[in-house]
Amino acid sequence: MSSNEAATPLIPAPDMKDAHVYGMQAYEKLVAEAEADHSGYWSRLAREFLSWKTPFTRGLDDSRAPFFKWFEDGTLNVSWNCLDRQVERGLGDKTAIIFEADDGQVTRVSYRELLARTGRMANALKARGVKKGDRVVIYMSMSIEGVVAMQACARIGATHSVVFGGFSAQSLRDRIQDAGAVMVVTADEQVRGGKQLPLKAIVDDAIALGGCESVKNVVVYRRTGGPIGWVPSRDRWLHEETQAQPETCEPEWVGAEHPLFVLYTSGSTGKPKGVQHSSGGYLLHAALTTKWTFDLKPADVFWCTADIGWVTGHTYIAYGPLALGATEVVFEGVPTYPDAGRFWKMIQDHKVSVFYTAPTAIRSLIKAAEGNAAVHPKRYDLSSLRILGSVGEPINPAAWEWFHHHVGGGLCPIVDTFWQTETGGHMITPLPGATPLVPGSCTLPFPGIAAAIVDETGADVPNGQGGILVVKKPWPSMIRTIWGDPERFKASYYPPELKGFYLAGDGAIRDAKTGYFTITGRIDDVLNVSGHRMGTMEIESALVSCTALVAEAAVVGRPDDTTGEAICAFVVLKRARPTGDEAKKIANELRNWVAKEIGPIAKPKDIRFGDNLPKTRSGKIMRRLLRSVAKGEPITQDTSTLENPAILAQLSERN
Ligand code: WT7
Repeated sequence: MSSNEAATPLIPAPDMKDAHVYGMQAYEKLVAEAEADHSGYWSRLAREFLSWKTPFTRGLDDSRAPFFKWFEDGTLNVSWNCLDRQVERGLGDKTAIIFEADDGQVTRVSYRELLARTGRMANALKARGVKKGDRVVIYMSMSIEGVVAMQACARIGATHSVVFGGFSAQSLRDRIQDAGAVMVVTADEQVRGGKQLPLKAIVDDAIALGGCESVKNVVVYRRTGGPIGWVPSRDRWLHEETQAQPETCEPEWVGAEHPLFVLYTSGSTGKPKGVQHSSGGYLLHAALTTKWTFDLKPADVFWCTADIGWVTGHTYIAYGPLALGATEVVFEGVPTYPDAGRFWKMIQDHKVSVFYTAPTAIRSLIKAAEGNAAVHPKRYDLSSLRILGSVGEPINPAAWEWFHHHVGGGLCPIVDTFWQTETGGHMITPLPGATPLVPGSCTLPFPGIAAAIVDETGADVPNGQGGILVVKKPWPSMIRTIWGDPERFKASYYPPELKGFYLAGDGAIRDAKTGYFTITGRIDDVLNVSGHRMGTMEIESALVSCTALVAEAAVVGRPDDTTGEAICAFVVLKRARPTGDEAKKIANELRNWVAKEIGPIAKPKDIRFGDNLPKTRSGKIMRRLLRSVAKGEPITQDTSTLENPAILAQLSERN
């Protein structure tokens, strides 16, 4: 790989003299500042980027490593930093959010209005008894109200846990229960791609599953007016709750370490883990990376196409852009409705200048544009664009080139941002006015992020050789713990053999010449399907919970041209192995079962049936073999330890 990369010419950064970080020398200077005094560097930025109610006296506290603390004796309020501060700076009339609904209807809110709505909602939450430290689950579609709900929680010091609107009742119940939420904020329905989809009904189902006794109130935003069930003692309309509330709500000043949110994400084992983030350190990195990685200026129109249910929507919709007083687009719908030109039309209509999206969306829009010239980006005026960004999975060079050429007109730098739910914000990324680009590489660490590649013992691996991606020093926006499970936090991210380095869970390689990083994919049993992170164990558990049908299941990923990875499930039924139409029928039943258990994003693309699974004589499932079978590649591995080699031919048959 490294020889390949060395042959790829670097694409020089454009000569943007007014860039926040202009030229590699400026980048190197920041890196050197952080190396000389890690805690001092971050403290300087925390003073510059955030407004503190009580200033902190100390940057990093590593006395209880790996439970690191940053700026601990400082107090602040995240919502005050995002909203009141902008009004005080004279940005009250500036548009904060340009919201475009699924049907194309546009609503704009100014910073002053967003502050007023947040204040009313915060007062409404307080009136229902929500206090500092309580958890509030937000199960909402993309909406201004979704952002307001997050900001309102931050305002009163409640810890939010946003659950993506595509998760099932079961998944929602697990998260409500694990978080011990006192309230759920939801909408009657969500609208995506011209369809009305239930939200409130799923909350009802989740609570009916039991174990959610902590939930006292369900607050419902009326989005469509569609029919919904109602429990009078529990359910409240958002508009009725906020109507009589005053717009002003004194912020709750919290310590920098106060948990702003818990966001569930998949690991290689067990149930999804609640990644707990701080207030001060998190907001610092959200604001800082939004400014430097996207070179964001006051006149920019920023659009991050993520959903607020994922960390990208937290950092680069709900917090980062607002902390900078930027104007951002929030989109309710999907990229392919009413047609696959939707993104390009919206960039044109709103004069978007910084556009941040996912490789999976780009790949599907390439396919659409190849099939239908009317939705090709060249049919739209995209001249407002100046910076493009990619996130969530590796971007393949072909998609990079298309994005660069057809969307960016060959002029816009692409920032390929590597990070994770746990990291809170960008970790390895180009800075657009500084870093020369190489398609397919996330280039260099953000200044102050001590990313490195090591072997299983934590020893450095030379450039040009692959290894394990780690971060050697703590950083302000890092995960603080796994909600309610500090032991799992330690075991997952700070395994003893890695000498106190943060384990990202990805493999990576640095180019022999440039030192640029390329992420080679997860080294654990975590899959990345269309940028959505899923644990193979979670899907296996969902399959085997179909006790009427399934005896055993193993799930692996295989490469997919559009979704990056696709889920491939190998299933042994409690009855004879089905073939032909029957196999198709049962495979579909199982797909729907998984959708009901986890959510449609977890549906296996391939389901293969066997009389058994390939196991060693000691009974261990040979996943490496299954990965080869899933890929359709010839089996080159040694199968001599296999109990039942004939099973491989069976499992190769597609349904
Ligand atoms: C995993 C984290 C980052 C926010 C959205 C996903 C993969 C993410 C990149 C990238 C290659 C990437 C990694 C990582 N990933 N960005 N630019 N290049 N891989 O957050 O759901 O926590 O997933 O996504 O495998 O570990 P997440």
